[in-house]
Amino acid sequence: MNLILIAFIVFILFVIVVLRRTNDSMADYYETAKATETAEGEHIAHTVGEAKTLSSFVIPLLVAVVLLVVYFLVKDSIYLGHMKEWMNLAIRWFHITIGIAWIGASFYFVFLENSLNRTKNLRDELAGNLWAVHGGGFYYVEKYKIAPKVIPKDLHWFKYEAYFTWLSGIVLLFVVYYFNAESMLVDPNVMDISPYFATFLGVASLAAGWLIYDYMSKTPLIKNNLWFAIIGFTILTIFAWYYAHIFSGRAAYIHFGALIGTLMAGNVFFVIIPAQKALVKAAKEGSYLDPWLGKHAGLRSLHNNYFTLPILFVMISNHFPSTFGHEQPWAILAGISLGSAGIKHYLNLQEKGEKSVWVMPISVMILLGVVFATAPAKPGECNDNVSFTEVYSIINERCVTCHSSKPTHPTWTAPPNGVKYDTPEEIQKMSEKIMQRVVITQTMPQNNETGMQPEERDLIRCWIEQGSNIDF
Ligand code: HEC
Repeated sequence: MNLILIAFIVFILFVIVVLRRTNDSMADYYETAKATETAEGEHIAHTVGEAKTLSSFVIPLLVAVVLLVVYFLVKDSIYLGHMKEWMNLAIRWFHITIGIAWIGASFYFVFLENSLNRTKNLRDELAGNLWAVHGGGFYYVEKYKIAPKVIPKDLHWFKYEAYFTWLSGIVLLFVVYYFNAESMLVDPNVMDISPYFATFLGVASLAAGWLIYDYMSKTPLIKNNLWFAIIGFTILTIFAWYYAHIFSGRAAYIHFGALIGTLMAGNVFFVIIPAQKALVKAAKEGSYLDPWLGKHAGLRSLHNNYFTLPILFVMISNHFPSTFGHEQPWAILAGISLGSAGIKHYLNLQEKGEKSVWVMPISVMILLGVVFATAPAKPGECNDNVSFTEVYSIINERCVTCHSSKPTHPTWTAPPNGVKYDTPEEIQKMSEKIMQRVVITQTMPQNNETGMQPEERDLIRCWIEQGSNIDF
C-alpha cells in the first residue's frame, strides 16, 4: 500500500508537469509574439512562465504532502476508513462534474457538426453555420472551411475537461481499487494474485491498450470506419475478457471504463490538440498544412463520441450487480458496449438527417439480449418453513465481519454502504436487497471472502420467499 501510494503521487506530479509544459508551449502562440518585441518583454514573459510552472507543481505537491501526513497520522486508527471515504467522495464528485463538462462539450460539437447549414447563403470561406436559441439568448455559430484569415487572439480551447476527467479518474482508480487492492481488485476465486501484481497489471493494460489503439489508428484501417469498428470492438472485447479473468467483476468493469477513458483522453492529448496547434500555426504563418492532420483528428474525435455511452454505463455499472456479477461478466460488458454504441450511431445518423431502418432495432435487440442473459436462474423448490435461527447464524458467520456497526474486517472499518446486520430487525428490513445480492447475483459476501455455501444461499432464498419472519 505505501509503495503504491508513493509511486502514485510521483506519477500524478509528473502528469501535472507535462500538462503545464504543453500548455506553456501553446500560450507561446499568443503571448510571446506580443511580449518579445522588447528584451524586457521577453524577460517578463519568461519569468511569468516559470512562475506558473512552479506554482502548478508546488500546489499539488503541497496537497500530496498534507494528504500523506494525514495518512500516516490516521494510519492505524479507525479514522483511516473515514479519510478514504471522504477522499473517495471528493474526487468522485470532481470527476463526474468535469466529466459531464467534457462529454457535454463533445455531444455539443458533434451535434453542431451534424446540424450545420452547409448550403444556404454561405460566404466562400465557410463550411457552415447554425442559429440557436438557449437560455434566453440567440446564438450564431460559423464553421470555417479551413481557418479564418487572422487567428483571433482569444481562442477557446477545449482540453482541460478531458485532461482532468482522466486524471481524477486515475486518482479514483487508486483510491478505490489499488489502495484496497486486496478486497476491491483481487478476487481469489477469479485469480489469486498479489495486490502489487494486480495493480501493475491494471496500469500496464491501460498503456498497452493505448499503444494498440494508437497504432491501429495510424494504419490505413482508420479510413474504413466499418472495419475499424469491427476490429476495434474485437480488441476491446479481448481486453474485457482479460480483465474478467484477473480481477473481481467490479474491478474488471472499471478497468474497461478506465481503458476507454484513456483512449479518449489520449486522443485529445496526443492527436486532437497537437493537430489544432498545427492548424493555428499554419494559419498564422500562411504555410501549407496537410489536410489529413485535421481529418485524422476529426476521426479520433468521432471515436471518442462512440465511446461515450459505453463509458457512462461502466461508470454506473457498480450499482448493478446483475451485470458485473454475471458468470461471464465480460460478455455482458461487450454486449452493452456494442448495443449502446449502436444507439449513439443511430442518434448521430438522425442528427445528420440520414434514415436508417436497422441500426436502432438491432441495438435494442442486443441490449434486450443482455437483459435476458442476466436473468436469474429458475429457483428450486423450498421445503418446510426455514427457521430464522438458521438464517441468523448464517448471516452472523458470513456477513457481520463487514456489515456491523463495528466491523472486524481490516478494510471495512465502517459498515459498507451503512448496511449492518447486528439485529434481526436490521436483517429483515434488508431482505429484498439480500435476495438481490446473495441469491440472484451472488455478489455478496464480497468476493465470497467468508466462503458462503450454495446451500446457504438457497436457505436464505427460501426464508425470504416464506416472508422473512424473524421469530426464533
Ligand atoms: C468482505 C466484506 C463483506 C462481506 C463479508 C459482506 N459484504 Fe455486503 N457489502 C460489502 C461492501 C464493500 C458493500 C458495498 C459495495 C457493494 O455494494 O458492492 C456491500 C454491500 C452490500 C449490500 C448492498 C447495500 C446497498 O445499499 O445497495 C448488501 C445488500 C449486502 N452487502 C449484503 C451482504 C450480505 C447479506 C452478506 C453476507 C451473506 C454480505 N453482504 C457480506 C462488503 C461485504
